[in-house]
Amino acid sequence: MMLSNSMRPSTSSRRGGVRLALRLAQCVVVMVALVSPGRAASHGVSACASCHRAQTDFQPQSQMARALEIARNNSVLESRDRLTFAQAGYTWTVSTRDGRSIYSVTDGSQTISVPIVWGFGAGNQTWVLERDGHFYESLVSYYPTIHGLDITTGDATIHPHTLEQAFGRRLDPTDARTCFGCHASNDVVDGKLDLTAIHPGISCAHCHGETLQHLNSMLSGDLTVYPTDLSRMDAEDISDFCGRCHRSFETVVRSHWHGEATVRFQPYRLELSACFNGADSRISCVACHDPHKPLVTRLSWYDAKCLACHTLNPHARSITDAQADRASHSIAAEIAAASASPQHASAAPAAAEKVTAMAPAALASSRPRSCPVATSHCIACHMPLTQMLGGHLWFYDHYIRVARPGQPYPD
Ligand code: HEC
Ligand code: HEC
Ligand code: HEC
Ligand code: HEC
Ligand code: HEC
Ligand code: HEC
Ligand code: HEC
Repeated sequence: MMLSNSMRPSTSSRRGGVRLALRLAQCVVVMVALVSPGRAASHGVSACASCHRAQTDFQPQSQMARALEIARNNSVLESRDRLTFAQAGYTWTVSTRDGRSIYSVTDGSQTISVPIVWGFGAGNQTWVLERDGHFYESLVSYYPTIHGLDITTGDATIHPHTLEQAFGRRLDPTDARTCFGCHASNDVVDGKLDLTAIHPGISCAHCHGETLQHLNSMLSGDLTVYPTDLSRMDAEDISDFCGRCHRSFETVVRSHWHGEATVRFQPYRLELSACFNGADSRISCVACHDPHKPLVTRLSWYDAKCLACHTLNPHARSITDAQADRASHSIAAEIAAASASPQHASAAPAAAEKVTAMAPAALASSRPRSCPVATSHCIACHMPLTQMLGGHLWFYDHYIRVARPGQPYPD
């Protein structure tokens, strides 16, 4: 998605701002101490910390900032010296010693072993391996829920016939570039993958354009260049913006992706909801998620987000964390059972007419209904926890809805 220039605030209106004056006064001391930054330096948070503590204090702890771990700094493998997994005549081993990890696969007579350099994923980890000048996605991955290895999500349909196939899925140059492009920063230069100055994880500069120019401008005292103001995007723009990596509504529809696998594409799922209105900021990704902070996992924290639009029904009951947790898991089980049974397969609504096509005037006049059932923990019942088929991955379905018993996964 392109941001138009008209979204940029005028410099003069900013110069007049009291907020700006205060901020700059705080920064003067630090500016003197800082050296002129290079392309790589603008990706580290330290270059921004002197002036943007609210963002830099917690962003490095977010999963986005940790979406790629590199060798010698791989916290997932550090504490596990030996992991093994066997299937269909092959055995995979990941062994770690003195901060170095080796990935190997054997068929009993021959073995391929390579050092692990690139660990993708902050929780689950898949390795992108280098061999004979090519990149491969490891056929097995580490899953914290089982404290061990299993076949990589999405690769269950691969039945290796050779040791090479068991080693991993070979990535063509475009796949490798997009893989790194979504999980790390400063690694695509002039459209090509260039790992020399890679910054693992999503950096400030990955989301905010022109940060190097902004940094130079602030440090030189010229004070005219500011990154595009992302807070001016409406809900639909934000969804597309985050959707560059989380996959936008359009990407999912155009790629003809269906079934439970789409639950990981939050922009697509959210836009299917009756709640979604592209012009209403109360339902944008950033209404519920601060991209500079780790994900909030306390479900009741989100009640206020729903109640920004919906009202409380005085006759509904309040429920406890434990009750919400049980409700959430029983709905997950119902969806899994209904989706697995073949007679329900055709009951799934046909794909994706944008429900958001509802006229804004109609939305404004009809005040969103209240819940007859409960006054809290809205997420537990209306953003049903969903397991990706065959995988160890669970997602809260962003298709906000009344999940009816026996209804299969709608998409
Ligand atoms: C010397 C101080 C200084 C440094 C260093 C600095 N900034 Fe800024 N930045 C400012 C000021 C002042 C503003 C305008 C006031 C505001 O929005 O806080 C600003 C605004 C911003 C905005 C908001 C744009 C908007 O319109 O909402 C972003 C994003 C931003 N900076 C990112 C960064 C990043 C990323 C870095 C590090 C690469 C960085 N800044 C380094 C001073 C600085
Ligand atoms: C440059 C790619 C990229 C962009 C743009 C991006 N994300 Fe992410 N995001 C990721 C990746 C990769 C992960 C997975 C991190 C992991 O688990 O390894 C992630 C994970 C997350 C998580 C889960 C964090 C957790 O703790 O489980 C949230 C929430 C999230 N992103 C929200 C957003 C929002 C909101 C936006 C838009 C403002 C956004 N993301 C834009 C790449 C991106
Ligand atoms: C278009 C952007 C994009 C591309 C390309 C991409 N990822 Fe991701 N990846 C994400 C986002 C966003 C998440 C977080 C949400 C989720 O789990 O789906 C994620 C999550 C993950 C996770 C943690 C969850 C899981 O599936 O176990 C791993 C591991 C991962 N990606 C590995 C890879 C590898 C390896 C490649 C290349 C073969 C790759 N990704 C390509 C955006 C991307
Ligand atoms: C995943 C994308 C993403 C990353 C990474 C990211 N930001 Fe942001 N940032 C945003 C979005 C989106 C907004 C607008 C938020 C809103 O509207 O609430 C924003 C807003 C800001 C603002 C303006 C805040 C305000 O109150 O006006 C500043 C300053 C900023 N970011 C600095 C940073 C810095 C510094 C980093 C690195 C530590 C960083 N951002 C990393 C997406 C990101
Ligand atoms: C109405 C609130 C709300 C909105 C709007 C929202 N989310 Fe979420 N999101 C949640 C909740 C609740 C969770 C689950 C938190 C937990 O794990 O306990 C979540 C989890 C996530 C995760 C972690 C994986 C998962 O699906 O469980 C990602 C990634 C994410 N959201 C991205 C996005 C993106 C991108 C958007 C915009 C398209 C968005 N969210 C809009 C409430 C929201
Ligand atoms: C931007 C305002 C807004 C937000 C935020 C919002 N909703 Fe809605 N929601 C609506 C509108 C408008 C409708 C459609 C009219 C109606 O059903 O009242 C709707 C419909 C619903 C429905 C009925 C859907 C159906 O399939 O019949 C449920 C359930 C629901 N919302 C729950 C939630 C929950 C839970 C949250 C928080 C995670 C939430 N909403 C956040 C505006 C919103
Ligand atoms: C324990 C599960 C549960 C929780 C928690 C819950 N709901 Fe509901 N909600 C339901 C069920 C079930 C229905 C459908 C009721 C029916 O149609 O008989 C429903 C219906 C709704 C509707 C549609 C009402 C209509 O007239 O069609 C909205 C809107 C809604 N809920 C919003 C919320 C909000 C907001 C919260 C949090 C304050 C919430 N719900 C918490 C189970 C729950």
